[in-house]
Amino acid sequence: MYNSISNPCKTILQNSASTETHDEGNVTDYRTKVARNPSMERLQNNYLFPEIFARESQHIKKYPNAKVIRLGVGDTTEPLPDVVASSMANYAHGLATKTGYRGYGAEQGSEDLRKAIAEKFYKDMGIQDEEVFVSDGAQCDISRLQLLFGSNMSIAVQDPSFPAYIDSSVIIGQTGDVENESGRYKNIEYMSCGPENSFFPDLYKTAQTDIIFFCSPNNPTGHAASREQLEQVVRFAQENGSIIVYDSAYAVYITDGSPRSIYEIPGAKKVAIEVSSFSKIAGFTGVRLGWTVVPKELMYSNGFPVINDFKRIVCTCFNGASRIAQAGGLASLSEEGFKAVISLVDHYKENAEILLETFKSLGLRAYGGVNAPYLWVHFPGSNSWDVFNEILEKTHIITAPGIGFGPAGKEFIRVTAFGHRENILEASERLKSLLL
Ligand SMILES: Cc1ncc(COP(=O)(O)O)c(C=O)c1O
Repeated sequence: MYNSISNPCKTILQNSASTETHDEGNVTDYRTKVARNPSMERLQNNYLFPEIFARESQHIKKYPNAKVIRLGVGDTTEPLPDVVASSMANYAHGLATKTGYRGYGAEQGSEDLRKAIAEKFYKDMGIQDEEVFVSDGAQCDISRLQLLFGSNMSIAVQDPSFPAYIDSSVIIGQTGDVENESGRYKNIEYMSCGPENSFFPDLYKTAQTDIIFFCSPNNPTGHAASREQLEQVVRFAQENGSIIVYDSAYAVYITDGSPRSIYEIPGAKKVAIEVSSFSKIAGFTGVRLGWTVVPKELMYSNGFPVINDFKRIVCTCFNGASRIAQAGGLASLSEEGFKAVISLVDHYKENAEILLETFKSLGLRAYGGVNAPYLWVHFPGSNSWDVFNEILEKTHIITAPGIGFGPAGKEFIRVTAFGHRENILEASERLKSLLL
């Protein structure tokens, strides 16, 4: 809320934009003449995670002495490895010296880091350093990609999926209004992924779109697409002339041999962009670092390389990731650093195993949790916000209601395996005593 009391701009704002009169010191009814962006108006409800935080706050007010365990928002909990934190601290200290000070960096990210990413994650896939764009996180790059595509595009998404694909699509103006009955936006192709199709969409029933967002392992279902399934997705894009935006934010959690990158699939470089992140690999949710790969071979219908436009977007709308975060990213990809961050990934995977066993012992069907830090738990015939509320009320555990990830999530809750081990064990005990 705009607070006027000591703000010298108040009079100017009042004079220039509104003829309404206001009580001195009270401009709560002040309005500009600027119309609200209709695309923002079209967005449904609150973004899922702030809504979860709001419900948690209400719960804490109601039960001030309860020990709330957070298995809702997918945020990492374990401390950074020392080798990673030290590299950032050293870099920051260097900035306080004449020789170590640096200003703006390369918009696309430091050469060392781009090279390290290409070698660590795309070895033998023919991805070159110049095709890697270092960013401040995958979520920011998803929006920058939407800006690149513009409002005149159609998209397909897995249903359920990470909310940023749909919300950024609505914000950029690609969609129509939401249909009340289905809860789906017009002009988005929802690719249903549930137990009935083993969480992989029926591509024969999927309409052609310009862009296909595809996340593997999928957040929230935890399903990692097999090689054969990804071959189908690439073939589908080739046949339709679409671009895949492949989100591999959880790729390091894959241990069953499924591909960790779309570029493991022959032909993908001509049809796919890949976004990824240090957030869940290296505990960088707060440090902020990610990357996007745009292969030089990926072309628009007029033969213009997509990479050239993405460079332009990055230079105009971003200006490069923090040098300090990049120093940390580089350290996390060193031999010592990578061993350390993977041991954190292993910790979360063991948490997932504990939770999976817990839900199974309750006789519930829980999916995911093997190649991903998320469990997708089915409560047939229920409403996911009701399940969320009931679990919170009875156990003081925060989960995430499946409906927040798309209409197909209405009978599910997502449970994250990010947490301290003692909290996961306690959550397991509380859940086991739960009789829903
Ligand atoms: C599938 C997926 N993509 C992207 C992101 C965002 O990653 P970042 O923290 O790098 O913005 C998340 C975060 O939860 C995610 O689940």
